[in-house]
Amino acid sequence: MIRVRRSGPLSGSVQVSGAKNSALKLMAAAVLAPGRFTLHNVPRIVDVALMADLLEGMGAKVAHVDDVLTIDVPDQMVPEAPYELVERMRASIVVLGPLLARFGEARVSVPGGDDFGHRPIDMHLRALEELGATFTASHGYIEGRAERLLGARVILEYPSVGATENLMMAAVLAKGTTVIDNAAREPEIADLATFLNLMGADVEGAGGSTITVEGVERLRAVTHTVVPDRIEAATYLAAVGMAGGEVRVHGARADHMEMLLEKLGSMGLRVDDGGDVLWAMAPERLRSIDVSTLPYPGVATDYKPLLVALLSVADGVGILTENVFAGRFKYVPEMVRMGADIRVEGHHAVVRGVPVLSGAPVRAPDIRAGAALVVAGLAAEGETVVANAHHVERGYQDLVGNLSRLGADVF
Ligand code: EPU
Repeated sequence: MIRVRRSGPLSGSVQVSGAKNSALKLMAAAVLAPGRFTLHNVPRIVDVALMADLLEGMGAKVAHVDDVLTIDVPDQMVPEAPYELVERMRASIVVLGPLLARFGEARVSVPGGDDFGHRPIDMHLRALEELGATFTASHGYIEGRAERLLGARVILEYPSVGATENLMMAAVLAKGTTVIDNAAREPEIADLATFLNLMGADVEGAGGSTITVEGVERLRAVTHTVVPDRIEAATYLAAVGMAGGEVRVHGARADHMEMLLEKLGSMGLRVDDGGDVLWAMAPERLRSIDVSTLPYPGVATDYKPLLVALLSVADGVGILTENVFAGRFKYVPEMVRMGADIRVEGHHAVVRGVPVLSGAPVRAPDIRAGAALVVAGLAAEGETVVANAHHVERGYQDLVGNLSRLGADVF
């Protein structure tokens, strides 16, 4: 449970952790080579611990001290992702590609539905089939086999982050060239490619829509530093927008957040890029704007609950259109309980700004929505109590501590 009271103005500085959505994939990629991997800037969050459990279940040894994660990968592994872990963390599915590439087999529990609605893995499977893998499904598990994966040209019907990553990690040990068209372009994909190349892979074009992978015979264990978490950085920017004040966000990369910064700028939030620090300054009151979520470099769907929170107290009416996850509006009724004026129509949310929210007991439906409810509480009179706060801990190392060090009344 997280308790928040109306706060502000915020001041001071905050350090952003490494990106959850990069760290998890780099950990999965470690399956591709035996030896000791060392990852720096790894957030101490529940999802990282779950991925560590998954790797340990396969036979690896994982240690996480401060922000350094070491993974000792053995020569032989049990190529399986069990139901108990996949059910708790969908991202477990990204071990499928690397397991098939290194061991020629993998058994992975099929992820179920979640709070975003149904999230299928058809694109992951189809892409791996293009490389020669075959799959059978029974008893809730997918079993994949491949003698030796063969490079191929794969056109993704949508730039899925997970499918691009699974395919890239499979292609690095495939025989021949793989070309991935309509690849996802997120900074975490480029980070994964940098990591794979350090391991001895030959990946070109990651961060763009066409990725070319020249398969190699073997890879080696390496040391790498995870890119900063752009969603965490955005959370502190949103906190300043909600509560007012001036805050420096250290470690954030403006070049990974360009479209969001442009949108926040149109709302009146000033964000200056000082190299590896973003300096955010809030206006008297934010202005409403319209925003659509899109795959990178568009405005990420993960920013959306934060944007809805900001629009809920901005001057005017803003329309937010969700183009990535159809069902991702579960937190709206919670914000409405806090006095926000939001109407959802299909994949649009029409948000009419009110001068101030009103603290209420609410429930976090997922990581990002949970964080947005906490941030919304900063502009709510009285006390907001966010239940199901464990969701927030899945993705944030110390959201409460960081906000309270900025002067927020949160505990
Ligand atoms: N999709 C399919 N079939 C597939 C794969 C995806 O239909 O085989 C659909 C999804 O249902 C969704 C869309 O494609 O509508 C986009 O999904 P994508 O595969 O890009 O997302 P993901 O890999 O499952 C990652 C992040 C999410 C983030 C999305 C979009 C991780 C672990 N998760 O999910 O982050 O919202 O990309 O950027 O990297 C979070 O961090 O809290 C989080 C949910």
